[in-house]
Amino acid sequence: QADLFKKLVAHSKEYGFIFQSSEIYDGLAAVYDYGPYGVELKNNIKDYWWAAMVQMHDNIVGLDAAIFMHPKTWKASGHVDAFNDPLVDNKDSKRRFRADQLIEEEIDKIQGKADKEVEKAKKKFGDSFDEALYRTTNPRVLEYTQKAQAINDRLTEAMSKGDMAEMKTIIEDLDITDPDTGSRNWTEVRQFNLMFNTQLGNIAGEEGKLYLRPETAQGIFVNFLNVQKSTRQKIPFGIAQIGKAFRNEIVARQFIFRMREFEQMEMQFFIRPGEEMKWYDYWKQTRMNWHLKIGTPAEKLRFKDHDNLAHYANAAVDIQYEFPFGFKELEGIHSRTNFDLSSHQELSGKKLQYFDPELNENYVPYVVETSVGADRMFLAMMSESLKEESVPDAKGEDSTRVVMKLHPALAPVKVAVLPLLKNREELVKASTDVFNKLKFSFQCQYDEKDAIGRRYRRQDAIGTPYCVTIDFETLENNTVTIRERDSLKQERVHIDRIEEIVRQRVDM
Ligand code: GAP
Repeated sequence: QADLFKKLVAHSKEYGFIFQSSEIYDGLAAVYDYGPYGVELKNNIKDYWWAAMVQMHDNIVGLDAAIFMHPKTWKASGHVDAFNDPLVDNKDSKRRFRADQLIEEEIDKIQGKADKEVEKAKKKFGDSFDEALYRTTNPRVLEYTQKAQAINDRLTEAMSKGDMAEMKTIIEDLDITDPDTGSRNWTEVRQFNLMFNTQLGNIAGEEGKLYLRPETAQGIFVNFLNVQKSTRQKIPFGIAQIGKAFRNEIVARQFIFRMREFEQMEMQFFIRPGEEMKWYDYWKQTRMNWHLKIGTPAEKLRFKDHDNLAHYANAAVDIQYEFPFGFKELEGIHSRTNFDLSSHQELSGKKLQYFDPELNENYVPYVVETSVGADRMFLAMMSESLKEESVPDAKGEDSTRVVMKLHPALAPVKVAVLPLLKNREELVKASTDVFNKLKFSFQCQYDEKDAIGRRYRRQDAIGTPYCVTIDFETLENNTVTIRERDSLKQERVHIDRIEEIVRQRVDM
């Protein structure tokens, strides 16, 4: 499984799904960029969510609120006072996080030694320098890299099990002392607010302090009445939003699982007080079904009730997915009571009430929230679909192919159009004709470089569900072969049928 995870990270970079942010400056920790195929996949995930939530519910509408909000928002929401480590409410976990941070710094130091050696060699050997070869053959570089890797593996294992004894042993083995306290027991933990802040215009000090939103939900709460009135919604109704959120995570690791800048897909469902458990159960089930419908196997998904409730919730559950590093939170469903709306009402002095014509009374609505990370969903989809398979090659012999068995609706490219040969003008012309027609309907790709077998493999590696090959028979009778990614079946069909065949599988 650890192996699969390493492959996934390497594959993401090699095939243009995910790059480390600011890589040329050695990267920025826990911040990532989505490459050409990554952005397509992520957009498809967001479209799937938006269609299921907004398009399919006539009582859910969308919103795109700004990232910056009035600083009082975060006072009212509790984030200024209580977002010091929302998931961590006991001493033990805090100690664990501090220890993790120190061990990580040590790993970076050791890996840094290896990188320095490589830099030196790069300068010495110039253009002819083969970094990959050097890294795998120079004994000093190897030693440092392996040492860093070994500690990292131990740390990951200990963190995933919450094994404090092992963490302590690693700290002792590495002879680490806490620079802040000089202690090896690292029980002192600085309080640490997870919100990033910045300044508004030229207003100095507390007055001009702005936060980058740590959740998108507050943009929905403060707009509750604007949306309700402008769309004449009646309770129960929901507001959905997709957008960036920022958290200065202390433990930022495991690739895009925990990032400092990430994207959330959130929906707040406004309901009558007292009906929250009914709707909480409804959304738990509805959201689980959403994950199942995109093909995630039931045995890889489970509900996990929260042990410690966040400051705003009276019931909360996670939908966990079995990532390569274990079952972890993918989505949260929270019964947030009327905590947020009441706080905003109090601090702003503006009424955030709804007049219920059936009950003939005014009230501050209760809220059930569903919140899923777009990046975590991305990681789940990559983990689920990346496979290595043994398949027969052109000569019928066994060979390995790397394939991403993404649900066709999520695949970055839906169909690739490939001329059998690139040096035959008539084949190229027929292929570009097909491509120019299909591109109005789907994300397509035209590829003429390399032998046809290699081109198939390239499409497999990015998860393209269909490859259409134009050959000499096409020129005679307007038929093409269409190859299906998973079954490897090739079928000869008329050009006019390509669209219908692809459409059948790529629509949700
Ligand atoms: N509005 C409620 C809320 O923000 P949360 O459980 O803190 O609740 C919701 O976050 C979802 O956002 C998580 O289930 C996860 O998918 C995603 N998420 C949270 N922190 C993240 C991070 N640092 N990196 C990537 N995704 C994150």
